[in-house]
Parts: sequence; C-alpha cells; structure tokens
Amino acid sequence: MPDGLAPTRAPLVDQFGRHVTYLRLSVTDRCDLRCTYCMSEIMQFLPKRELLSIEELDQVARAFIQRGVKKIRVTGGEPLVRKGMPELFTRLGAYLGKGLDELTLTTNATQLEQHAEMLARSGVKRINVSLDTLDPDSFERITRRGKLDQVLAGIDAALDAGLKIKINTVALKHENMHDLADMIAWAHNRGMDMTLIEVMPLGETGEDRIDQYVPLPMVRDALEQEWTLTDVSASIPNGGPSRYVRVEQTGGRLGFITPLTNNFCAGCNRVRVTCTGRIYMCLGQDDHIDLRAALRESDHPDDALNACLDRALFKKPERHEFSIHERGQDPSLERHMSVTGG
Ligand code: 5AD
Ligand code: SF4
Repeated sequence: MPDGLAPTRAPLVDQFGRHVTYLRLSVTDRCDLRCTYCMSEIMQFLPKRELLSIEELDQVARAFIQRGVKKIRVTGGEPLVRKGMPELFTRLGAYLGKGLDELTLTTNATQLEQHAEMLARSGVKRINVSLDTLDPDSFERITRRGKLDQVLAGIDAALDAGLKIKINTVALKHENMHDLADMIAWAHNRGMDMTLIEVMPLGETGEDRIDQYVPLPMVRDALEQEWTLTDVSASIPNGGPSRYVRVEQTGGRLGFITPLTNNFCAGCNRVRVTCTGRIYMCLGQDDHIDLRAALRESDHPDDALNACLDRALFKKPERHEFSIHERGQDPSLERHMSVTGG
C-alpha cells in the first residue's frame, strides 16, 4: 500500500458544484431480516458470482479515495451477513489517515456481537444501527423474523468495544409512532444519537407504504408537546440529509431525514456503489454506471475506473423525485433500498 495514497487525482465535482467526498459501498443485497417497508417476504437475491469480490471492493474504494473521497460507509442489505468482512475492514482501515478520514458501517446489528471488536480494531469509530422498536413483538412483526435480544446484545457489544452508535429509526404509522419518545430517551440515556427517517417508496414490499408513511414534521410536533428541541444542524459538519436538534431534556442529539416532506438534495455529497459494482449517483434515480465491467474487462482497470467516475459525476442529477400520495401507487423506483444500501 503506497503512503500518501490520496487524493492524487482530480476531485469529484458534479455539474451543480457539489463535491463528492462520501462513498456508500454496498457489499451484499442479502439480509437476514425482511423489514416490511424495505423488502418482500420472499426475495430473489443475486447469485454470489455477480458480487464484487473483496479485492474488487477494495479496488473501487481506492479509486474513490484517490479522487478525494474522505468517508466510506459499508452498507448492504446487511453487510455483516457476507463472509470476508474482517478482511474488507482490515483493507479499508489501512486507508485511514492516508486520504480516508472515516470508515463506518450501517448494520441491523443481528450479528454485531461477533463483529464489534473486529470493527473497532479496523479503525471504525462510529456505526449506524437500524432499529425501529424496542418491543420484541413489534420487532418480529416489522422485520418479519428478527429477534430483538440479538440486536440489543449487538448494541451492547459495540458500546463495550468503544464504538459510537447512531440509531436509525424509520417512523411507521402503526408500529412505532407512539413509542418514539421512549426510544429516543433510551438511546440518549445510553449515549447514542438517534435519527428518524421517513419511509421511502423504493421497491415492492407486498405492503402499501401509504399505510406506513408518517410525515416527520408531525412527529416533531408531537415530541415538542413534551420536549424542547433546539436546532443544531449548522454545527454538525457533514450532517448529510439529516436535520439535527438537541433534546434539552435528554441532552442527546436527534436527526430527521425527510426525503418526502423536505428535499435535501442541494447539499448532497455522496454516491453509492452496489454490491455488483454499479455506481448510482442518486438514491432516488435509476441512472447508473457499471464499474464491474471496467474492473474485469479493461487492460488498464485504474484508468477505466476513473473514466467511469467522470461519467458518473457528469450524470449526477439535481434531485430525487419521491412521492407517496395515494393508495395503490407504484413505488417511485423498482429497486429496493437494500440494493443501494440507503
Ligand atoms: N424507506 C426508508 N428507509 C428505509 N430503509 C430501508 N428501506 C427503506 C425505505 N423504503 C432503512 C433501513 C435502514 C437504512 C439503511 O435504510 O431501516 O435504517
Ligand atoms: Fe434488512 Fe435493513 Fe432492509 Fe430491514 S431495512 S430488511 S434490516 S436491509
């Protein structure tokens, strides 16, 4: 691994002047859960040969770091269900301080207990855990199979290993809307941040999202009946699409991701690479570029990769166009969130 790896090539700037410094790298489309807003009960996953190998994922990460990417988030599906994660994290962790500032992970935490130490050793400091309820029955309903205890054990192990945790919670009309305050208090008590997310119309799930969707401004109003929320967004660099507040009563931080009620695309600094090596410039658009062919078929893979990045950046659209208006509406995109890793 050469020292001073990055950034040795032109930065990634799109047509709207946005600098891409953040890569979300999906390592699998598989998941051990089937959350009702995310997937169908029966999912057809990709055959393993379609996936980028650990070496190829590393190669992609390097290409992005050389172009000025400072932060990489490993996503899925559920990343920790894929074999080879210790190797991938060791490889990516080696770029920390050599162009890469932060390596992180989004996980459902079902297997976090086994992996927490490994992550901390690789240089991971903070992770996001997706968790929508603290009620075991509700958890089983939402995930169509999960065991809450396993997730809570994973969270404990990660905190013990010194990892900082942000809990990501999708607001769901029937499952958790009335328990969110308790959940926020639980997270803040344990020193964890929490972010609420609006359901997005991505992929068929066998459920109608109009029955799930809660506009977050409504949740915020309800929380403000009890609590004082002070805006702190501006003081959080790279807060991404989240608007943050401090809850004065708990002393903790709460984020709101509102793709439907409040578009956040103007500050977008990220691109996504799927586990098959497609680069998606926007979570809310279908346009993509295939990196895998460049990696596997070119005589000069580094040059071919860079040409792909240039093309991708040129195509990064101004904004997404999500909506959830009416019953029976088709999803805005056929693609599930688990393909691009959110
Ligand atoms: N809308 C909103 N959030 C979703 N997630 C998965 N699918 C959707 C969707 N359709 C969330 C998960 C996790 C993150 C990676 O994306 O709960 O927090
Ligand atoms: Fe799995 Fe996350 Fe989708 Fe739930 S939301 S099914 S945990 S990928």
